[in-house]
Amino acid sequence: MTILIKNGRVINPSEKMDKVLDVYVKDGVIVEKGENIEKEADKVIDAKGCFVMPGLIDLHVHFRDPGLTYKEDIITGSMAAANGGFTSVCCMPNTKPVTDNAEVVRYIINKGKEAGYTNVLPVGSVTKGMAGKEITDVFELKEAGICAISEDGKSVMDSNVYRDAMKNAVKADVPVLAHCEDINLVNGGVMNMGDKSEEFGVKGISNAVEDIIVARDILLAKETGAKLHLCHCSTKDSVTMVKKAKEDGVKVTAEVCPHHFAMSTDDMDSADANYKMNPPLRTREDVDALIKGLSEDVMDVIATDHAPHSAEEKARSITEAPFGIVGLETAVPLTVTHLLKPGFITPMQMAEKMSYNPAKVLGIDKGSLDEGKVADITIINPDEEYIIDVNEFKSKGRNTPFGGTKVSGKVKWTILGGKIVKEPEEER
Ligand code: DOR
Ligand code: ZN
Ligand code: ZN
Repeated sequence: MTILIKNGRVINPSEKMDKVLDVYVKDGVIVEKGENIEKEADKVIDAKGCFVMPGLIDLHVHFRDPGLTYKEDIITGSMAAANGGFTSVCCMPNTKPVTDNAEVVRYIINKGKEAGYTNVLPVGSVTKGMAGKEITDVFELKEAGICAISEDGKSVMDSNVYRDAMKNAVKADVPVLAHCEDINLVNGGVMNMGDKSEEFGVKGISNAVEDIIVARDILLAKETGAKLHLCHCSTKDSVTMVKKAKEDGVKVTAEVCPHHFAMSTDDMDSADANYKMNPPLRTREDVDALIKGLSEDVMDVIATDHAPHSAEEKARSITEAPFGIVGLETAVPLTVTHLLKPGFITPMQMAEKMSYNPAKVLGIDKGSLDEGKVADITIINPDEEYIIDVNEFKSKGRNTPFGGTKVSGKVKWTILGGKIVKEPEEER
């Protein structure tokens, strides 16, 4: 199988390349990039006006498989990934059972391969059963194929347990993906603590809930030498602390989710549960700090925290509904609309934060369009405008506050290992 991608704006962070070129793919590999490549190909893609980026990598998804497949499963989650332009995804371990042993890891890898829409990379839990008491066998998990460890959904509140896990993560050479939330301080909160929570008459989650654990985790990473990646940062003080930690030489990276830079509590016109996620939407001041952090490359990664739930679950009140919104199929348009078009980031930074940097966090040989690399490629038309329609999602989850909103930036083709896994309707 050969593919010739014509006249796209090729954005390749590993070479700092941003240039209109053709790309020739053969047998799953990027063979050549150049001007006016004249070669026969099984498939010719006209990418004029489009970005040709290394396949997007999402460090943070919940595929709910095994155990909670009424919300999502590895097949529908993978289809959603391909539809959203993601060629690799990291699956958080809060499944049922928890991804705390080799058997579950192998199940996820095998089912992901069978689905064949995206590279499905399992994340192992930090503690057994995510109970926060006894650390998992990270060496066994690594052998089975995990890409990282995380307790996502909560923090390991016992600092001594977490420190032990970090020490082992260093020995096993795996990154630690940290969900930062002081559970005692949450105290029943369901949205950002402030004017809006008062208006709606519900309990709030203060910034300190996140900031205290961000500070602790940075200090533990400094002490242990662990490779720490902070998930879904939502506060301005998180950005300040990440900046300081980097200046101090701590091995820390940080992600921001599209909903945290695209929306603030000002946009919550009701207490609808589709506005409920953890960490919550924050104030305009926090959002501005996150955008500045992304713009100045203090914040390295854009990740979705794709968290599908059933319609019934999200129809409940904001107090009763579970935390989380879907993100795989809205990440590109939200990034283009809210960061790229207003000029906060360049196309190069977009490719870095959605592909090159996530690959570096994981230490995997992806996120690059260099010749000789596996052909994971995402082709995006940044100028195509449309209205987000949740009924077009491949995910089982429809839980998003962005349905019906006007955006710019459409994923046109997703190529996984030289195979087209998404193409425009009109070309099929
Ligand atoms: O909003 C969220 N949903 N945040 C999390 O940390 C967990 C996730 C989930 O599993 O639903
Ligand atoms: Zn989380
Ligand atoms: Zn999560």
